[in-house]
Amino acid sequence: MKDQIASLQAEVLAAIDGAADAAALENVRIAYLGRNGKIPALLEKMRDIPKEDRPVIGKLINEFKTKVNDAFEGRKNALQDKADDGSVDTSLPGRTTNFGSIHPVQQVIEHSIEIFRRLGFAINEGPEIESEFYNFDALNTPKDHPARAEQDTFYILESALQPLAEGQGRRLLRTQTSPVQIRTMKEWKPPIRIIAPGRCYRRDEIDATHLMSFFQIEGLAIGENITVADLKGTLEYFFRELLGRDLQFRFRPHFFPFTEPSFEVDCARATKPGQPVKWLEICGCGMVDPQVLINVDLDPEKYSGWAFGFGPERVAMLRHNIPDLRLFIENDVRFLKQFSKVA
Ligand code: DAH
Repeated sequence: MKDQIASLQAEVLAAIDGAADAAALENVRIAYLGRNGKIPALLEKMRDIPKEDRPVIGKLINEFKTKVNDAFEGRKNALQDKADDGSVDTSLPGRTTNFGSIHPVQQVIEHSIEIFRRLGFAINEGPEIESEFYNFDALNTPKDHPARAEQDTFYILESALQPLAEGQGRRLLRTQTSPVQIRTMKEWKPPIRIIAPGRCYRRDEIDATHLMSFFQIEGLAIGENITVADLKGTLEYFFRELLGRDLQFRFRPHFFPFTEPSFEVDCARATKPGQPVKWLEICGCGMVDPQVLINVDLDPEKYSGWAFGFGPERVAMLRHNIPDLRLFIENDVRFLKQFSKVA
């Protein structure tokens, strides 16, 4: 028995040493240590050994097993080191996953929300399918206003739908986010500070500066003693945070049916002395018209406020020097991935 153990030990250790790679080593393991291997077969024979010899033989076998296990582990590690040793190129770049990115217009919307949140504004939303009442009447828009014409607004065929309540007029796709002002003032109590981002629709021919579906971000602040100074201060702060601290502004008198006085805001980058300033129109705004407050049962003697609306597409074009609005809706990955924040 002693001799058998000694010769098997020499045989296994030589086989382990001679295994050229992991697969060969595994074959050695199966041949000697596996269930039908030579080592379990030898252990079987322990049964035939006289009782008094068992402690000595048992000890020999245990030493044998430890030696084989150590040799086996040692060879396994050596083979692994060899494999790492240049035969695998660990500097090869791995396979990358496409993460996608946030659309540049959505990035402007999210950034705007973040800035107004800091100023204590809440976010509110309204439906894209609106009524004439919310989109036009309550916003003090005369019945013969050109925006109401069927060439400018998408109206929805009523025949298949429940008619709207008395006074709501026809259903339409909202042409602006301003109806959210009305919905908010009807449902909430002053003081109110909201912005309302969302999609709008107009029957425009699509070209470099027009889409028939686009976004707006509406703003509304209602309370006591709110003035044009608050409007100017808030908008200037907001656009400087969004587009750069060096912006300068111009508030030009304008007309909107729902604000009085109304302004258009132009902005421009600082220029060197003597160079012409390039003004760009960026936002419409004004003090909420007293008639609009009356339409939502607020007392214009007690409350005042201001509102604004701008297009995040416009801002994204300014930010990234994008020449054509249509790029935003073509879903060309080569365009979209330039705005990815993940490198
Ligand atoms: N709704 C206007 C538009 O679509 C934008 C606008 C202008 C919104 C002035 C306002 C505002 O809230 O006060 O052209």
